[in-house]
Amino acid sequence: MNKKYVLITGASSGIGQAFAENLASQGYHFYLTGRNKERLKELSEKLVKTWAIEVKTFIADFSNQDQWRNLMAELLKLPPVYGLVNNAGYGQAKTFLEDNYESQSQMLRVHMDGPTELCHYYLPFMIENKGGFIINLASMAGFICSPSAILYTATKAYLIRLSESLHVMAAVHGIKVQALCPGMTFSDFHNKLGLNQQEMRKRGPLQWLTAKKTVELSLKKLGRKVVYTPGFRNRLMLKFLGLLPRGFYYRLTIWAFRAFKYNK
Ligand SMILES: NC(=O)c1ccc[n+]([C@@H]2O[C@H](COP(=O)([O-])OP(=O)(O)OC[C@H]3O[C@@H](n4cnc5c(N)ncnc54)[C@H](OP(=O)(O)O)[C@@H]3O)[C@@H](O)[C@H]2O)c1
Repeated sequence: MNKKYVLITGASSGIGQAFAENLASQGYHFYLTGRNKERLKELSEKLVKTWAIEVKTFIADFSNQDQWRNLMAELLKLPPVYGLVNNAGYGQAKTFLEDNYESQSQMLRVHMDGPTELCHYYLPFMIENKGGFIINLASMAGFICSPSAILYTATKAYLIRLSESLHVMAAVHGIKVQALCPGMTFSDFHNKLGLNQQEMRKRGPLQWLTAKKTVELSLKKLGRKVVYTPGFRNRLMLKFLGLLPRGFYYRLTIWAFRAFKYNK
């Protein structure tokens, strides 16, 4: 039987690592990307040792055009993947106008250009093979607007709509597409922004899940839910926000960000 490969971007920690650990137990082989060489190496060795699978690792910062093109050149030499998890992503400490545009726009490369190019490259192979899957890591943030995370919310909204459109194009070929939209998830995401996850958890009403649980639920719903938010309370909150008249929702958002002094 042919080996089935899955490409997971941002596998060196958090949700990406949890995808690798879960899918390894199902016998997939991997192409894993990250920036932290040590952590990626550690994960790769653990997967190979535990599951006797093939793992190739790639170090690349997607915001750097040269590193991105080198990564694509390497991937093009390898057998195409059965599954693609576009997971690499990050939050910005500086807000839209506090930062220079070059730094802000790096997020467009990491959250939009990279995932889109990978979908464009791998989908024809999936169509030819009449099967495969794509999971794009969006976020609950893709459904809301936020003055403190303008490009984060915008790029995650892009990933949701991209996934929906890819789904209606690819479903007839037996390909499963999902925009995974987690709420608060324990990972390195908040640590990298200098935020304390335990403190955040105590302050807000949002439901926190582990990366492992988020991944378990995502894979369980793959092929059944095209846009999926893990956590009942998170889904309830989105449902409630969706029912609000848009003008009222904007006023509520402005009020909330002023009250909590997040508005910049
Ligand atoms: N945690 C949450 O609450 C949450 C909620 C909703 C959605 N998400 C989304 O879930 C995805 C995974 O995040 P996580 O929570 O698992 O965070 P994480 O633990 O920080 O993992 C993020 C991964 O993306 C990689 N990455 C970040 N910037 C990159 C860049 N410029 N180029 C290449 N790779 C890059 C990281 O690489 P290195 O660590 O090696 O630098 C790491 O492997 C992200 O897309 C995030 O937006 C997270």
